[in-house]
Amino acid sequence: MQKTSSDTSNSVYEKITLNIEVTFRLAREDDLPKLEWMGEFTHFRRVFRQTYQDQAAGRRLMLLADLNTFPIGQVFILLNSNFGWNGNEYGYLYSLRVMAPFQGLGIGTKLILQAERIMQERRLDYATIAVAKDNPRARNLYERLGYQVYSSDDGRWSYQDHKGHTVHVYEPCWMMEKKLGPVG
Ligand SMILES: CC(C)(COP(=O)(O)OP(=O)(O)OC[C@H]1O[C@@H](n2cnc3c(N)ncnc32)[C@H](O)[C@@H]1OP(=O)(O)O)[C@@H](O)C(=O)NCCC(=O)NCCS
Repeated sequence: MQKTSSDTSNSVYEKITLNIEVTFRLAREDDLPKLEWMGEFTHFRRVFRQTYQDQAAGRRLMLLADLNTFPIGQVFILLNSNFGWNGNEYGYLYSLRVMAPFQGLGIGTKLILQAERIMQERRLDYATIAVAKDNPRARNLYERLGYQVYSSDDGRWSYQDHKGHTVHVYEPCWMMEKKLGPVG
């Protein structure tokens, strides 16, 4: 069979095995452009800036998975969210994502566990997270980590994109929660 130009079975093409270190930390101001992931999330520029200001004010946290000073994963935490209708203090996890080439390696799991630890240290009673109804794989992940569905939400929200246009989002979702124990 004739070889095509993309055939790499020829011994000229080698591979290397990398032992990469991913660290978990809060966002710094110089992360904001990098969170746009080379254009994939440019439309969230203003959202990232506002969230960063909220982090500085102590209302939210931007937890990042850092590889070589680049944020390849993230989860944001809304602290003491007003889901606390029953006297409990809640933290709301959202915008969880890991860059496609790094998915399935345990980074998303670690982001959630690290976020839970941060919330435990802040004496929050419950962690909550919303998962789109058409994202059963993510729901499986949260269930494996101990989250349970407690309600349904029509998932309507809006944001201002980088050009100042209001974008309306409609993403029906399940609301899930997990009781946080004391810091272990
Ligand atoms: C969901 C997500 C954050 C998980 O991070 P991750 O580092 O890939 O997850 P882990 O390696 O720790 O765990 C793997 C599990 O994550 C889930 N998962 C993996 N890739 C996924 C994807 N593309 N979409 C949704 N869930 C995914 C699955 O449950 C998977 O377990 P499985 O392989 O047994 O099905 C990540 O895959 C992602 O960013 N997906 C796209 C955006 C998204 O769906 N975010 C969740 C919004 S609620």
